[in-house]
Amino acid sequence: MKIECTIDNKHILLNVNSNKPLNLILLEDLEINQIYSRCRDGNCGNCVVLLNDEAVLSCLIPAFRLKGVRILTFEGYQKSRFWHDLERAYSDTGSHPCPHCYASKTLIFESLLQMIIKSELGPSQDEEPDEEVIVQEIGLNTCACLDAHEIIAIFNSAATYRRRRRVRRY
Ligand code: FES
Repeated sequence: MKIECTIDNKHILLNVNSNKPLNLILLEDLEINQIYSRCRDGNCGNCVVLLNDEAVLSCLIPAFRLKGVRILTFEGYQKSRFWHDLERAYSDTGSHPCPHCYASKTLIFESLLQMIIKSELGPSQDEEPDEEVIVQEIGLNTCACLDAHEIIAIFNSAATYRRRRRVRRY
């Protein structure tokens, strides 16, 4: 099956089995190695990517769902300026995800930051996530290295940097 999509800001034409999961496409077909798939069945949460800005488990996304979507992996995300907001939040709070879940939790934080920016653009956009939603979303990755207090502190710190960036129009 031929599928056109955007991965890490590059237009890609894939030629893969329609049921091949995205994590394996990234690892085997595109040689993007910062996908830490452990369970490969939706349990560990280590294979997170952003699909149209939403955090998803790539092992559960079959190729046929990729038509026309935007995928951002941690490898691509590290090249964006948005990454610095979370780097600074980790440094300011003294808390950060452990090496096993660092990429996935960082991308989930980014999806939440995208939600607050969209919520501030107008009433028809997404709602700003509250603390319960933030902790719940980070739980998409099951590693318990951060407690709820640390998660909220990181998010609030990164959100402050992101809002400042928005005022400066990025
Ligand atoms: S590899 Fe474990 S949730 Fe995807």
